[in-house]
Amino acid sequence: MSVIVSPSLLAADFMNLGKDVEMVDRSKADWIHLDIMDGVFVPNISYGLPVVSQIKKIARKPLDVHLMIVQPERYIEAFHKAGADILTVHLEASTHLHRTLQQIKASGMKAGVALNPHTPVSLLEDIIQDIDVVLIMSVNPGFGGQSFIEHSLEKVKKLKALIQATHSHTLIEIDGGVNFETGRELVTAGADALVAGSFVFKSEDPEATIAGLKNLKTE
Ligand code: DX5
Ligand code: ZN
Repeated sequence: MSVIVSPSLLAADFMNLGKDVEMVDRSKADWIHLDIMDGVFVPNISYGLPVVSQIKKIARKPLDVHLMIVQPERYIEAFHKAGADILTVHLEASTHLHRTLQQIKASGMKAGVALNPHTPVSLLEDIIQDIDVVLIMSVNPGFGGQSFIEHSLEKVKKLKALIQATHSHTLIEIDGGVNFETGRELVTAGADALVAGSFVFKSEDPEATIAGLKNLKTE
């Protein structure tokens, strides 16, 4: 199975967002990654619900929405209405994670859990079977264009072992500092999905860069 590629629009041209969404739709990408930041959980503010709804009007690929916000449970229904297909909340921001995941799934979306770089994979031991996608942050969330934290590879391997040991169907997605080099290492370590922002949108030919990520093979 080839790797799932989810380009992050955080690095897109916001004055021409429609064009970048169309490019992702034309490309070999599988999902479209949308980063929602509240200026509280992370030290940055990105864009919110009205932008997601507008993107949904033209996007033909599933919207992979990454909530970097406190108390994400307050916005499950709103993001469902805006068009999210996968809704990912941070473990560090969720007091009642089990309930939040059930609510996301009851709305008909896939449920994701994101882990900050310092959060151990072992914290997922008793919840892994309820998670559709684990998003391992390989940078500190809040900004695009940061360099990849190498230790993330160990986390991918540990998570893969946990998923296999529990016979779960959870996908492993990685976010931050992904390029061809780190992407290949991640796929080898067991990643199912790669998010890439600046590597795609700052490249000369974003569509070709997406195709290159899609073709990454394990070593
Ligand atoms: C960071 C976001 C990422 C970001 C990745 O907080 O969650 O999705 O867009 O950007 P790159 O790929 O440039 O590291
Ligand atoms: Zn993200």
